[in-house]
Amino acid sequence: MRITCEIWKGTDEADGGFVTYEFETDPGNMVLDALETIYHEFDPTLSYRYACGIARCGECAMMVNGVPYLACEKKVEPFMRIEPLRRLPLIKDTVIDRRKVFDHIQDLLPEARDVEEIAQSLQKIDEKTAKEKIENSIRLTNCYECMICQAMCPRYREDGEDFPGPLGLLILMQMRENPAQRTFSKEWETMLSASCLSCGKCMRYCPAEKKPLRLALDLLERAPGTAVRYTCGGYGDARIQEVADYV
Ligand code: SF4
Ligand code: SF4
Ligand code: FES
Repeated sequence: MRITCEIWKGTDEADGGFVTYEFETDPGNMVLDALETIYHEFDPTLSYRYACGIARCGECAMMVNGVPYLACEKKVEPFMRIEPLRRLPLIKDTVIDRRKVFDHIQDLLPEARDVEEIAQSLQKIDEKTAKEKIENSIRLTNCYECMICQAMCPRYREDGEDFPGPLGLLILMQMRENPAQRTFSKEWETMLSASCLSCGKCMRYCPAEKKPLRLALDLLERAPGTAVRYTCGGYGDARIQEVADYV
């Protein structure tokens, strides 16, 4: 199968542009395989990031024909326009600056409390609540940290300075649900979720099978006083149709 890949190359919008590569590949190959072919056979300056190759680490997320995918689980198509996740800080080509995104989230989340305070809060939790929280926190760790939700969140993209984005909200819920870590005030949850538009677009694009983001937003929604009341469709074909709304 002959494919054409237009890949965005550069370190920022001002100096970047699309470069086209055409070559034969197996139709069963993934986008990551195509990037490997380009790197090894045509262009050793191409930058892309991956680690696991089996849709678990989230490192290979990028846009393919305007839709966010994990490159290691997206099959090749005859024509592909490949770009980095949009409006996230860029290092080069398809590689976003994940450190900057995490640093920004960390700046907005509450400080860790001291050990004594954690021990006291643990004593107040009954067995059933602790079990529920442990189950929730395990499910929340099924997030691949691919940052697709972050890139597709309209609020984060337009005005993310005081809003940690969907990944930030998920990390907030990971912190809250883990009984060995900390509980924090409803004011924090309200403040950090206040900018959420409740559009559900982050969930629709999440590639994680166990839907950690759905649980995180459910938990936020249940918390009294929080602003999140999302309305989300499913995940699947709908994402291709809906993408035109906000890309
Ligand atoms: S529901 Fe919409 S605004 Fe809220 S975090 Fe998700 S994508 Fe962003
Ligand atoms: S919640 Fe889903 S989309 Fe967001 S970083 Fe985790 S796996 Fe990716
Ligand atoms: S390489 Fe790990 S998710 Fe794609």
